[in-house]
Amino acid sequence: MDHFFRRKRIPAFLKPLLSLSLIFASFLMIQKLKLSEKDAVGVKHVRDPAWCGSECFSFKKTAMTSSGTSDSPVPVKDLETQQVPNVTRASWDAQVLNCSADASVRTQDWFRRLDQRFHQFVLHRHCRYFPMLINHPEKCADGNVHLLVVVKSVIEQHDRREAVRKTWGKEQTVNGKKIKTLFLLGSPNTGKDAKNLQKLIEYEDQIFGDILQWDFMDTFFNLTLKEVNFLKWFYIYCPNVQFIFKGDDDVFVNTHNLLELIDFKVEQRKAARLFMGDTISKAIPIRNRQSKYYIPKELYDKPYPPYVGGGGFLMSAYLARRLFVTSEGVELYPIDDVFLGMCLQRIHLSPEMHPGFRTFGITRRRASTMNTEPCFYKNLIVVHKLSAQELLRMWSVVHSQDLICAQKTSI
Ligand SMILES: *[C@@H]1O[C@H](CO)[C@@H](O)[C@H](O)[C@H]1NC(C)=O
Ligand SMILES: *[C@@H]1O[C@H](CO)[C@@H](O)[C@H](O)[C@H]1NC(C)=O
Ligand SMILES: *[C@@H]1O[C@H](CO)[C@@H](O)[C@H](O)[C@H]1NC(C)=O
Repeated sequence: MDHFFRRKRIPAFLKPLLSLSLIFASFLMIQKLKLSEKDAVGVKHVRDPAWCGSECFSFKKTAMTSSGTSDSPVPVKDLETQQVPNVTRASWDAQVLNCSADASVRTQDWFRRLDQRFHQFVLHRHCRYFPMLINHPEKCADGNVHLLVVVKSVIEQHDRREAVRKTWGKEQTVNGKKIKTLFLLGSPNTGKDAKNLQKLIEYEDQIFGDILQWDFMDTFFNLTLKEVNFLKWFYIYCPNVQFIFKGDDDVFVNTHNLLELIDFKVEQRKAARLFMGDTISKAIPIRNRQSKYYIPKELYDKPYPPYVGGGGFLMSAYLARRLFVTSEGVELYPIDDVFLGMCLQRIHLSPEMHPGFRTFGITRRRASTMNTEPCFYKNLIVVHKLSAQELLRMWSVVHSQDLICAQKTSI
């Protein structure tokens, strides 16, 4: 998320140079990827006794006493998750970009008082679905997909996507469960580089086939558009997916622990209403104008409903479908995590807190030893926030045979 903040103005004369070097760098990157795909680090499927949240621990005990059923998970088919709406084979129906500003709000008093930076948002708030520039209708069509990994990214962050593909976002089948991955992108901001960036992303997609791109500007306040457009896309194209992990491109995810957590929920028959992450239950809008999350009173003047940090959370596909239907009746809100919280509230569901999701907090102190301690990562599910290099390094250390951690029974 933070990259929207760091963008600095680049002198005009440097721009052509910059886009050239960007193309060159990406070309090198793609060649390198082609070569290294074979020896990329993968998830090891060993049952690892070191991982446990308090819940997971009780699961371990039952799994051990129930004559080795832990390796043959209960088919999720038997559960409520099967209440899939009978969607006839539809396709993306937003074909033209006709989102014009809503001039009527300009005349309103509150709009004039509203902080300038929210004007664009309010003027285009009614525009919800956008045409797709890159689509993959076939992504979920390949039999039953156990887990769809969905990553919010922006075109410029190709090194992060590269790292995610090699680590927690790797498409694979683990114990017969299929994992698929998608990156969600908007369109490049207008400027000299826009055309080149678009070419690059199309090229990247030709190689990896894992990009969904919509024709809206990839700005911080447009992240909610990514949310609603994805939910609609998912509703149309993914009737046979069981679970969704949704996260940022700068987090570390312990895939093994994530899958184990899902198994646990399935075993407990609580999988259908699964919505889990780093939950914040009593937040109020931030009124500090310096904050990236600043919300003026004119826009929203109530406490927030419980919501999960968008850095990484887990939900059942069943809930994602219900959320899509519900979201259509909820006015867009500039902070995407909070928007989803508003939708959850409408279906009377509080997101569940899990201490393994660390999407806030920890990294405030960059020098904290926790941030560099592999055993810490081994015992968690999501950790925020790492550069592409840090992610690759931590992934290989956490998955190395040599890493020995003390057994933990709780976090
Ligand atoms: C779902 O829709 C298809 C096509 O319209 C129809 O043939 C089928 O019977 C429907 N299934 C259910 C369970 O309603
Ligand atoms: C865009 O066009 C479609 C079809 O003409 C229309 O239904 C929709 O309301 C329009 N959207 C906006 C935001 O004007
Ligand atoms: C969101 O994207 C649309 C379409 O590109 C654009 O018109 C609008 O200004 C953007 N909104 C914000 C708040 O950036």
